[in-house]
Amino acid sequence: MSVAGKRVLLVIGGGIAAYKSLELIREISRRGGAVRCILTKAGAEFVTPLSVGSLSGDTVYSDLFSLTDEAAMGHIELSRSADLVVVAPATADLMAKMAQGLANDLATTALLATDKRILIAPAMNVRMWEHPATRRNLATLRTDGVSVVGPDEGEMACGEFGFGRMAEPKSIADAIDALLAPGPALLALGNNTATRQGIASVGPLAGKSVLVTSGPTLEPIDPVRFLSNRSSGKQGHALAASAAQLGASVTLVSGPVALPDPPGVTTIHVETAQEMLAAVETALPADLAIFCAAVADWRVAGESSQKLKKSAAAPPTLSLVQNPDILATIAGLKAGRPQLVVGFAAETENVIEYARGKLRRKGCDLIIANDVGSGTGVMGGDENAVHIVSPGSVVSLPRLPKTEIADRLIRLFTDRLVKGPSA
Ligand code: C5P
Repeated sequence: MSVAGKRVLLVIGGGIAAYKSLELIREISRRGGAVRCILTKAGAEFVTPLSVGSLSGDTVYSDLFSLTDEAAMGHIELSRSADLVVVAPATADLMAKMAQGLANDLATTALLATDKRILIAPAMNVRMWEHPATRRNLATLRTDGVSVVGPDEGEMACGEFGFGRMAEPKSIADAIDALLAPGPALLALGNNTATRQGIASVGPLAGKSVLVTSGPTLEPIDPVRFLSNRSSGKQGHALAASAAQLGASVTLVSGPVALPDPPGVTTIHVETAQEMLAAVETALPADLAIFCAAVADWRVAGESSQKLKKSAAAPPTLSLVQNPDILATIAGLKAGRPQLVVGFAAETENVIEYARGKLRRKGCDLIIANDVGSGTGVMGGDENAVHIVSPGSVVSLPRLPKTEIADRLIRLFTDRLVKGPSA
């Protein structure tokens, strides 16, 4: 067991699921780990310091301003003395405070001060879990490198049904084992099946890493003006969300879009094509790379550091230089090329013919081609109709919502990853 011989700092938040944290303490002990607990004020409404202390065999810490506690173990030392910090139950309130960096009690101070990895086990009412504020906080925490286990779907103490039940103690202990195991840390953990509400970790893409580019790039002319395009990022973001729901660890590199970061996905925001390439290279290695971004083909040579002024003479001449081709660069890697490299081709005519040419020129495994001609409403719209072009075949999908296209494509890519080009 990876937790054997390791120390876990367990923060018990204020939720009915706190009773399961008592079982979690026992499970970690059974696996040979030591647990030290911080019990929040709200948590102490659900479980007593006496039961927590009896099971952990250690002092239970709860007061930031306790002279006796601070003398025995200062709050900074408390936050650093463990190998891993676990928050279970992680309430909506605790998640919001963590996402904001608030530190107004012992638990939040220790969470802000720690230099160790943090795993949270969210537990809350389904409406609270689905609330955009919680989704935002979750996305922020993931971007900050916080790992998440659960929540599960099921009946709740409040009588409602849905996602929000804290993961079972054994699953949380499995996640702790995984995080303390030598080797690359997992970003997404959980034990529910893939749905749009939950964070999946089991599923056909569990253990796989997926890289997606999305949105337009923005190429500055001067500090206030730029060249860009009409890409909304809807298709790329939906692909990233679908892959995460099938259990993949997903990095989304996105140009400027008006969309929220998909939950369960590590999102890196960039502006220019050159920044996008750098972010993609940093995010590698990946098993599957999907290049859905509408990268500007050109940038302005010699971007002006001052706003260009109108003058009576002729308007300024913009001279353009070619941007790096991110897809071709990654598809052509000699070492560290993702197993499956997928490009997109947005065309206004001869869609399949141009896609075939692109497949050859760029060296990718598949091209997803779509017609973005005027009247199709695809660019910026919610629907898409695509053709999946491989060296030997073309498979066309009907016009469908971009989320449905994403689900179908990700399932096909998953098959290709497992079975190879015959799938
Ligand atoms: O050549 P074109 O822009 O039509 O190719 C589209 C495909 O190439 C898309 O997958 C897009 O994300 C990718 N691309 C890229 N870098 C560029 C241009 C396009 O990754 N500079």
